[in-house]
Amino acid sequence: MRTFFDRIFSRKPANATAESVISLYSQDYPSPDNAFKLFEGEWTSKVPGVPTGQIDLFSDGRIDWLTQQCGGLSGKSILELGPLEGGHTHMLAKAGAGRILSIEANRQAFLRCLVVQAALKFDAEFLLGDFRSYLKDTEERFDFLLASGVLYHMTNPEEMLADMRFSLGSWATAAKAIGSTASATRAKRRYREYPGCPAGQLVKSACCIVAA
Ligand SMILES: C[S@@+](CC[C@H](N)C(=O)[O-])C[C@H]1O[C@@H](n2cnc3c(N)ncnc32)[C@H](O)[C@@H]1O
Repeated sequence: MRTFFDRIFSRKPANATAESVISLYSQDYPSPDNAFKLFEGEWTSKVPGVPTGQIDLFSDGRIDWLTQQCGGLSGKSILELGPLEGGHTHMLAKAGAGRILSIEANRQAFLRCLVVQAALKFDAEFLLGDFRSYLKDTEERFDFLLASGVLYHMTNPEEMLADMRFSLGSWATAAKAIGSTASATRAKRRYREYPGCPAGQLVKSACCIVAA
């Protein structure tokens, strides 16, 4: 009689060839690098110690600057929007963040975040999904919100900035808007005018990078 495990492990699609089934299994010597190879040629960021992409998002001066402006991130709760491959997430964790929730919509990028996390071993919760709906619904409050390189992805950046406001708690020291696209500039201006949000509220009540 076939055991439960026989049934699970021999399950294959009707049209699967022996070769295609074998290709699902790695025969490499187990190593953290193997997971990176699953996304060979697709990496954007340069993951330390692993042949990956070109961009230095794991040692990004903007995040160092931000950490400094805030007087450190030790113990702070952080919501990160659009981590891509977890480079900034890793920096925030190394800076001592207490809790990091990081929301990524791109399925492949989300999986790369998990690969990075498994290899570099840092504390963060990565969620796959659209942060716009999270920002609208969540009752959770954060000390710090990092939205770097995402504003220009938005069809309605003003709405995103307004929704971000509700996810922030009271801890705050600084804000900086980086970027020069028209949408970012327009969004920043509109945010200051947002009803119930006094001019400079972003500066007073949030730590945030809005990078275009
Ligand atoms: C240009 S990358 C920025 C990556 C990183 N934060 C940085 O500053 O280098 C934008 C990231 O945001 C993600 N993203 C865009 N819209 C999103 C959404 N609505 N919800 C979640 N992630 C989103 C993209 O998939 C991508 O990983």
